[in-house]
Amino acid sequence: MGYVLGIDLGTSSLKGLIMNKAGQLVAEASAEYRIDSPAPGFSEQHPEYWVIAFEEVITKLSFDVADFSAKLEAISFSGQMHSLVTLGENNEVVYPAILWNDVRTTKQCAEIMEQLGDQLKEITKNIVLEGFTLPKILWLQQNKPEIWAKVQKIMLPKDYLAFVLTGNMACEYSDAAGTSLFDIEKHEWSTAICDKFEIDKDILPSVVASLAQVGVVNEVYANRFGLKQDVKVFAGGADNACAALGAGIVNEDYALVSLGTSGVFSSFEPEIVNYQGKLHFFNHVIPDVYYSMGVTLAAGNSLNWFKNTFGKGLGFDELLADVHTVAPGSEGLLFTPYIVGERTPHIDSKIRGSFIGIDTRHELKHFARAVLEGITFSLKDAQVLMETAKNKKFKQIISVGGGARNTDWMQMQADIFDAEIIRLEVEQGPGVGACMIAAVGNAWFTDFESCRDTFVQYQKETFKPKKDNVANYEKLYEVYREVYPATKNICATLTGFGEI
Ligand code: XUL
Repeated sequence: MGYVLGIDLGTSSLKGLIMNKAGQLVAEASAEYRIDSPAPGFSEQHPEYWVIAFEEVITKLSFDVADFSAKLEAISFSGQMHSLVTLGENNEVVYPAILWNDVRTTKQCAEIMEQLGDQLKEITKNIVLEGFTLPKILWLQQNKPEIWAKVQKIMLPKDYLAFVLTGNMACEYSDAAGTSLFDIEKHEWSTAICDKFEIDKDILPSVVASLAQVGVVNEVYANRFGLKQDVKVFAGGADNACAALGAGIVNEDYALVSLGTSGVFSSFEPEIVNYQGKLHFFNHVIPDVYYSMGVTLAAGNSLNWFKNTFGKGLGFDELLADVHTVAPGSEGLLFTPYIVGERTPHIDSKIRGSFIGIDTRHELKHFARAVLEGITFSLKDAQVLMETAKNKKFKQIISVGGGARNTDWMQMQADIFDAEIIRLEVEQGPGVGACMIAAVGNAWFTDFESCRDTFVQYQKETFKPKKDNVANYEKLYEVYREVYPATKNICATLTGFGEI
């Protein structure tokens, strides 16, 4: 039985998964790399880090799986989104990749929205944020004109790795959608946006579908790792699209909640919905469909901060051991997780978190429960936007990430989202989505639905909403929604004090 390799090129590491035709995970390996921050708000990586990590991962996999090189048939990718790779005349990197979590571009975002706001929203279906690619290009044009003059091609991280492997340059729709340069409906680079910001369309790679074959692994790599000469390389997709695919979301029935450092609520969209920029809206890796997505910047990060600050020395299990003894609503204590600002739905870098309603009876367990509830409420904001726009209700939600490990939090999610919460049998993140792209691209399956039936299994135990809790949380969520407008101005002023 042959193998596919899914590469998840993340922000802090590159992970490789080998899966076989039966959807079994044969082996995994990962290699970490650093993020460079040469100035406050800067977040950079040299693309060479990814290549080195890739080589390390392939070496480990070849070592662990004796028949890896003989049986590998296809490779595909999941990649960190938005990050800008710039290449010169000889395809050399001319500036470090500016990453999605770099925030140097506030001024350029304002300029873009001022010059093209409504038209940009119409074409890209998103507003522009600091993390997106276009403002990074403007930053280079304005601050490093001598570097910008050298740029012959721009790329996204996983596409750069595919280029190193195959010698061919391409960008697929789901990642192109996060650049603010892509016409989401027409599936092409937008002439209007490129012209407005003096971007020569020739510097953009050709756009292809996620399932398109970019090429085969070149001779140098094939010889170096003893691979066959015809290992196919498929374009792959943006990490959030691959995460949804890898969680088995191939139709409108389910939504996805991912609770990592940040939190994501995402939904499959069969057609274009105008969310007025309140949610992200991108092309999917599944042909001709889309996904929408809301982001809570500090999800796991809020819990982590809380543990490190108020529960020093405790593990997560200890910190959360007693939250089940506290009733929903944490006895009148409410938390908003805006500790590093917030994306969805407020897009406000100055807002900060709060505990509201602190009372002498509140103990550590009340605060811990309030933190979990507040993080979940903030993701419910995205759920409500999606459900309202489409006049529908999600009945089932797949929950992944650290949040899926704690059963009390799972029940909270069921009660707050008022939906059945389901967990994956084996959780391997967006790399599974990349394996599925390689598997379907390699014609192991005719479509993603049949691939999902083989590659994705759910746990039998699910978490169903409890009627009384749902009713309580509905009332509490209304109060939660009042906290943002009530604290917005206070926080903006306080942020100013923090900077002194
Ligand atoms: C999405 C976003 C992040 C990155 C992480 O808009 O900025 O989720 O995709 O790689």
